[in-house]
Amino acid sequence: MKKLRVLLLGGGGREHAIAWKIAQSELLDELFVAPGNGGTQAVATNLGFGDSDFEAMKQALLDHDIDLVVVGPEAPLVKGIREFIEGDAAIAHVKIVGPGKIGAQLEGSKSFSKQFMQRQGIPTARFGEFDAAQLADAKAFLDGFNPPYVLKADGLAAGKGVLIIDDKEEAKRELDEMLVGGKFGDAGARVVIEEFLAGIELSVFALTDGTDYVLLPEAKDYKRIGEGDVGLNTGGMGSISPVPFAKGAFMEKVITKIVDPTIQGLKKEGIDYNGFLFVGLMNVDGEPFVIEYNCRMGDPETESVVPRIKSDLLSVLWKCGNAALAGEELIVDERTATCVMAVSGGYPEAYEKGKEIEGLSQVSDSLVFHAGTKERDGSIVSSGGRVIAFTSFGNTMAEALEKSYQSLSKVHFDKMYYRKDIGFDLVGSKD
Ligand code: AMP
Ligand code: GLY
Repeated sequence: MKKLRVLLLGGGGREHAIAWKIAQSELLDELFVAPGNGGTQAVATNLGFGDSDFEAMKQALLDHDIDLVVVGPEAPLVKGIREFIEGDAAIAHVKIVGPGKIGAQLEGSKSFSKQFMQRQGIPTARFGEFDAAQLADAKAFLDGFNPPYVLKADGLAAGKGVLIIDDKEEAKRELDEMLVGGKFGDAGARVVIEEFLAGIELSVFALTDGTDYVLLPEAKDYKRIGEGDVGLNTGGMGSISPVPFAKGAFMEKVITKIVDPTIQGLKKEGIDYNGFLFVGLMNVDGEPFVIEYNCRMGDPETESVVPRIKSDLLSVLWKCGNAALAGEELIVDERTATCVMAVSGGYPEAYEKGKEIEGLSQVSDSLVFHAGTKERDGSIVSSGGRVIAFTSFGNTMAEALEKSYQSLSKVHFDKMYYRKDIGFDLVGSKD
C-alpha cells in the first residue's frame, strides 16, 4: 500500500499525543501539523496556519499531496471543514476524520444534543430550554428542581458556558444575564436548564465511520484548577486511564444504553457521522447518564488514552476515513496511564506567556506532551495556559502518578503550577 501523507489540525497536548502516535506508524510517509506547537515539531512538520483557516489548509493539502486530514479540535468541525473538503473538486479525494457540520452540533449546541438524546431515548438529565422571550418560563422552570441548579449556554462558550448554582435567586439573576444581558454572547441566547446529577464522571470515546465503531480506552479528567476539585473550571489539569469502575455491568450499560443508540441514532436521522465521539458521562449509583457529547477527543484525556493504544492508530484512522472500520478492534495496554498537566500561574484567568521551560531533557520516565509551548531562539517557551502534560505508565495508578510527579519535579518555568492530587477520588476504588 502507498504510504500515507497526513495533516493533523490543532496545536494542543491532544494533538501532540496523536502526532506522537501517528509518527510511529509503518503506514506513514509524512506527517504535518497545523498549527502544531513546540512539541509536535519533534515528530512532524509544523505548518504556520490556524486550525480553522480552510483556504490555507486547501493550499497545504495540494502542496503536500495529503491523503488524510485528522481534525483535533471542535472549531473547524462546527465551522464545516468536512463540507469544505468534500465540496471542492480539487481536494475532494482527501479523506477526513471528523464529522460534518450537523454531526458537530452534538457539541456545538446543547439544545441540539439534548433533543437528540430525548428522541433516541438516551439517558440524560431532565431538562428544559428557553430563549429571551421565555425568561419568565425559564425562571418558573427552576421551581421544579432542587438545588443545585444547572444552567447551560446553548452554544460553544470556550468551556465556560455551564453554571452550577446553589441559590435559586442567583440562578434567576444568571438567567437574566445570559438571556437578556448577553453573557456568553450568542452562545447564551438560548439556555438549557437541567437537573443536577450527583455521581462520578468519566469520559468514553468511540471512533466511528458512521456505521461501525471502535471503543477507545476510557479516562477520567480533572477539570477544576484547585486540589480536591475546587475553584474554576479549566480545560483539564490531568487525566487517568483506565477508570477503575468502567467495567463489567456498568460498561455494558454504557454501550447498550448510550454508545450503540447514539451511533445508530445518528445514522437513523441521516446524520453521516465520521470521526471521534466523546461521551461525557455521570455514573449515578451504577447508572450512566450523558452529561455532554463532544465531536472530538478530550484534552487532557487523549494524553493518557492514546499512549495505551498498542494498535497502529494511523491504520485505524485511515480505515475510519474510508468508512471501513467493520471488524476493527484495538489492542490496549493493560497498565494505568496518568497525565498531570503543568499550567501557567494564574490560569484559567490571566497568566503570562513566554516563560522558558527548563529541565525537559532530564525527564526519562514519562512521555512529555506539549500543550502550550513554542520554540524561541532554540529554547522551548510557554505559549498558553496549559503548558506541558506528563504521562506515565504504572501497574497501579499510584505507581504511574509517582513517575509523573517525579518527572514534574525536574521541570521548571516561572510561576508553573500543577495539581498534586490527580486521581485522588479513585484511590482504593475497585468498582
Ligand atoms: P459540560 O460543558 O456540559 O461538560 O459541563 C461542564 C461540567 O459541568 C461537567 O463536566 C460536569 O462536571 C458539570 N455538569 C454539567 N451538567 C451537569 C449535571 N446535569 N449535573 C451535574 N454536573 C453537571
Ligand atoms: N477534558 C475535557 C474536554 O476535552 O472537553
